[in-house]
Amino acid sequence: MSNDSNPVQFELTPGGHLNGQLRVAGDKSISHRAIMLSAIAEGESNITGFLEGEDTLATLAAFRTMGVNISDPKDGKVTVQGVGMHGLQAPDTALDLGNSGTSMRLLSGLLAGQDFAVTLTGDKSLSTRPMRRVTDPLALMGATIDSTETGTPPLCIQTGSQLNSIAYTLPMASAQVKSCVLLAGLYAKGETCVTEPAPTRDHTERMLQGFGYQVQREGSRVCLQGGGRLSGMDIDVPADISSATFFMVGAAIASGSDVSLEHVGINPTRTGVIEILRLMGADISLHNEREVGGEPVADIQVRASQLRGIQIPEAQVPLAIDEFPAIFIAAACAEGETVLTGAEELRVKESDRIAVMADGLTVLGIDCQVTDDGIIIQGGQLQGGTVNSHGDHRIAMSFAMAALRAKAPIKILDCANVATSFPDFVTLAKTAGLGIQIS
Ligand code: S3P
Repeated sequence: MSNDSNPVQFELTPGGHLNGQLRVAGDKSISHRAIMLSAIAEGESNITGFLEGEDTLATLAAFRTMGVNISDPKDGKVTVQGVGMHGLQAPDTALDLGNSGTSMRLLSGLLAGQDFAVTLTGDKSLSTRPMRRVTDPLALMGATIDSTETGTPPLCIQTGSQLNSIAYTLPMASAQVKSCVLLAGLYAKGETCVTEPAPTRDHTERMLQGFGYQVQREGSRVCLQGGGRLSGMDIDVPADISSATFFMVGAAIASGSDVSLEHVGINPTRTGVIEILRLMGADISLHNEREVGGEPVADIQVRASQLRGIQIPEAQVPLAIDEFPAIFIAAACAEGETVLTGAEELRVKESDRIAVMADGLTVLGIDCQVTDDGIIIQGGQLQGGTVNSHGDHRIAMSFAMAALRAKAPIKILDCANVATSFPDFVTLAKTAGLGIQIS
């Protein structure tokens, strides 16, 4: 949904290729969790590689409002003075989480366990996103959270009594919901368990363990005991594979490209995009694989190659959930048909990513057919034109990369929200060779 107060458009010149060694923005999911867990830990935590984007800064601001002393982020470095599990203070205003679904869903769990009331609000887009997926399990744990009649924000979390633990089976594959329940579980009596229908990103579980909190994982089930404590630590946030994706796709589709993306998180719950692009014939190699603070990291090299359309394996969908707008651009440049199924979650992201991408691809001359749970895209020749990102950061950046293979200029409307996840995108993309201007 659009960010009307701050109109930003991207203007792209067609053609070109991408080259060079790039370090993309810090991982958004890990940056959020780094602030949240450091805030309720005992002692100091030093974060490096922190994403200074609007979403993660909204999380940071929320904890400052609740009395946590957090340094001003500078070059990705942030120091958090943890207040311990019960040291957060009642905020004197509602917490405005902007565009950030992760902030709202994870904080609703963490704050359901506090002994004060708090209201969570967001921008136009966040205010339309479904929150029953978090308020339902939290109600089962004994929390009282009011939302609108349709289950959207604002969320008013009432001062609660002691939370009960639950064994919860997620109705959809969602790391945000899993994390919400686990964070509430920290404050619940007894053992809280979450079972997921398919693997989703496990940064919360990994980071809790890093902070010294015991988490049991067995197959699709994760459990923890409430009432423990976290000890402050140093966190090195890797570059975000979701931000690297735009450059991976750009390099894969534009002949003559060769990019190396440095220090990228390759947690197996996030690497669906590598799997899917390789199935399409992309030339991707991983170098210097290593582990940093409990998260696997590598440098990712991508060279241009002819891509082919595929049936995307459904098991890969949750592992590439944020990467589909960019994957659709790869599909538009591939030979033949690409079919995506099992991806209805895309309809409730920052925009309806199936509908908005289909509209933009159609404007650019690509034949595609929307289905209930996915899309069918026929590879073809991208033309120029004006597409509307509807304020969705990942859609704006995906269509920017499409220009590498377009016949004529592309204009992208409503791009201000790129700053939520990747504030340096335009600078970095220009450095790599993309003909992009802001207007
Ligand atoms: C996220 C989980 C995903 C993803 C979002 C970040 C997280 O959402 O789309 O951008 O940090 O846990 P779902 O878990 O709702 O699929």
